[in-house]
Amino acid sequence: MEEPSRKRQRNESELAPSGNSSYPPDASQKKPKTVAAEDYFESYEDLGVHHLMLRDRPRSEAYRKAIEGNKEAFQGKVVLDVGTGTGLLAMFAARAGAKKVYAVEGSNMANVAQLLVEKNGFADRIQVIKGRMEEVELPEKVDIIVSEWMGFYLLHESMLDSVLYARDKWLNEGGLVFPSRSRIFLAPVNLDSYYEEHVTFWEDVYGLDYSALLPAVKAQLMAQPEIQITVEKEQLLSHPLLVKDIDCLSVSPQQLRRIKRNFELPILRDDTMHGFCVWFDVTFDPHHTYKSKSQAVQGSDAAADSGDMRPTGGQVVVLSTAPGEKPTHWKQTFILLPADRGFPVNPDTTITGSMAMTTADDNSRLYDLSIDLGELDPDPAADTTSLNGVEEEKEVEPEAEAVEEGAMPGHEKDCQCGKCRLIRAYLAMEEGREGDTLG
Ligand SMILES: C[S@@+](CC[C@H](N)C(=O)[O-])C[C@H]1O[C@@H](n2cnc3c(N)ncnc32)[C@H](O)[C@@H]1O
Repeated sequence: MEEPSRKRQRNESELAPSGNSSYPPDASQKKPKTVAAEDYFESYEDLGVHHLMLRDRPRSEAYRKAIEGNKEAFQGKVVLDVGTGTGLLAMFAARAGAKKVYAVEGSNMANVAQLLVEKNGFADRIQVIKGRMEEVELPEKVDIIVSEWMGFYLLHESMLDSVLYARDKWLNEGGLVFPSRSRIFLAPVNLDSYYEEHVTFWEDVYGLDYSALLPAVKAQLMAQPEIQITVEKEQLLSHPLLVKDIDCLSVSPQQLRRIKRNFELPILRDDTMHGFCVWFDVTFDPHHTYKSKSQAVQGSDAAADSGDMRPTGGQVVVLSTAPGEKPTHWKQTFILLPADRGFPVNPDTTITGSMAMTTADDNSRLYDLSIDLGELDPDPAADTTSLNGVEEEKEVEPEAEAVEEGAMPGHEKDCQCGKCRLIRAYLAMEEGREGDTLG
């Protein structure tokens, strides 16, 4: 999957014909591009990227409300802002009464943060530290960590790793991490307008037939999710599925390397399904406090031992990027399925399968997203949404043996149920796609 930073969306040049290249190009040759750490930080040295984030009001207002609306939690506290950018969250924390804020920034944007901190009169309380979170030393431990680390479909860029590193090294027992929780959701979706714009379009281009390019176009569209798409709530075809519930106070980076989730999603109406929509939300809960691993193992009430920092009042704030919520710069992510004109679905259809999000071998900042239709992943870990060990992991019941060759377990060969029709259409498409020979 291609690396899209918040700055760059998609590389549109990949379909450009060159001299003797055969058409369509070979989608199987598509390798994720690697992102060197230097490139990653360089991408954040563009003021345009920060402008995009700063003018994203639902995002920025959620942080402002979570921090300044919880003054009792921040009053007199030592705060760390992981990836301060222009210094926004650090200055919110200072305005909320923090005694000291360490604002760490790995790119040259640290110079901008320093300038703005001084201009806004916070130089006595905010110390901007230029360097990578994993490499800098702080003068002391902190009571609260704030960070805006979320990428497309939540985990893209994997900046959460840096926050978890900071948490385990620098956060006091009983401290806070803002946001404290994050969740990933999935739902099948109808995207007629997208399909017309990106697929049907090629059938008639100013009266010319461009449909010979369709296999290449589809291969390109399916090789990577569409990360910047606006999906309306009405376009969702089932109730949302909670793919993963991440407790930012206790999750480990290793638990984020591979996320899997089985799904069985009953369709709500007659429609055409084009693929899946993925989105996320994050929650800022001033009552959810940190217990280090050693304290958790001992089973002691760490917060009480070290002086409970939970405020008595305080408000929980949620920032959601769901379809139907106020639009953010993350928009939603769309994963296209290989079907000529989508799959017809109706209230008898249940979409069954599993979703996996796995970090790319050559770049932990990139995730491969994959969806397997028709098969539940037998790994019990694929049947739990929680990453904090709170939720019990359920055994997946082994499916009954298929009685007929070519039939789905528990279904007859020519079964007309929605699931079987969908899977047959999918398999036919898969075979057809191989026949198209990409390359
Ligand atoms: C999404 S931006 C958020 C900027 C700012 N906090 C805001 O809300 O406007 C993330 C910032 O974190 C920085 N960053 C990412 N990983 C980092 C790390 N490991 N150490 C220091 N800075 C990091 C990036 O350079 C970027 O400026």
